[in-house]
Amino acid sequence: MEQLAGHTAVITGGASGIGLAMAHRFGAEGMKLMLADIEVGPLAGAVEALRADGYEVESFEFDVRELDQVRALEAAARERFGNIHLLCNNAGVGAGGQVAGLDDIERWRWTIDINLWGVIYGCKTFLPGMIAQGEPAHIVNTASMAGHLANAFMGAYNVSKYGVVALSETLSREMQVAGNSVGVSVLCPAFVQTGIADSARNLPAELHVEPTEEGEAMKQIMDALVAGGMETHVVADAVCDAVINNNFWILTHDDSKPAIMSRADDIISNVNPVPYMGG
Ligand SMILES: NC(=O)c1ccc[n+]([C@@H]2O[C@H](COP(=O)([O-])OP(=O)(O)OC[C@H]3O[C@@H](n4cnc5c(N)ncnc54)[C@H](O)[C@@H]3O)[C@@H](O)[C@H]2O)c1
Repeated sequence: MEQLAGHTAVITGGASGIGLAMAHRFGAEGMKLMLADIEVGPLAGAVEALRADGYEVESFEFDVRELDQVRALEAAARERFGNIHLLCNNAGVGAGGQVAGLDDIERWRWTIDINLWGVIYGCKTFLPGMIAQGEPAHIVNTASMAGHLANAFMGAYNVSKYGVVALSETLSREMQVAGNSVGVSVLCPAFVQTGIADSARNLPAELHVEPTEEGEAMKQIMDALVAGGMETHVVADAVCDAVINNNFWILTHDDSKPAIMSRADDIISNVNPVPYMGG
């Protein structure tokens, strides 16, 4: 989608982190912005900062887990700005969780509801209108390197992000088969400096548990990895380039690519997975 200026972008999880950086970048390209998020305070702050930079921006408070709220977002964006040209399905949470045991089953559900069902709802809700417009349009789904490499103790997150990669590949092929003018990209970063390690701030009260020693240790590792991660504006620049050039894969971290190659080699060589830590 070469033409950005004057067109409309809807960004979920737009109140902070990668979503907010995308809003700044697409605002700078002259796009009209609809930011949607569950966090009211940061959303208001984001809108204020973007308007101060001279961008046309509206906000929508919603929970991406709820289909009727995603539909209301689509209607609100269309009513305010007309045709929607760019949808960034980006809202997400980082959450650990091992596979064995039923204690954390509802936290698994919360993670997958946001990270995977939220993206499915976004695609299924927005696509009919974006296709019917008949104008160049684009969808960016935020996955992760965890959509290619499944670290231990990150089960629900890995499952959700592999799902987003699969959904995006499927959608890209479907759009080509149908000859539609909607491009698709999947964003797969390793660590980025955002609030992801504090995702539990949005956990429903009934799902809160006292942190265990193991959980605290894991949190400290995540804090350090995220703090040492890529700056958000670098990710946003890569997303913008991919939208303009219609690139499907957005792999922001070159140092993670060999691990994808190794995994592919392991699969075809019938080598069993071994534990590792990395992006
Ligand atoms: N930061 C990283 O290291 C990293 C790496 C790979 C992928 N990602 C992905 O990037 C995306 C953005 O995360 P981030 O790193 O910017 O973290 P972040 O916490 O800074 O931003 C996530 C945003 O999503 C919003 N959100 C959470 N639950 C929501 C819900 N139910 N409904 C609506 N909005 C909700 C949050 O309020 C927040 O504004 C996520 O999908 C995440 O999985 C992040």
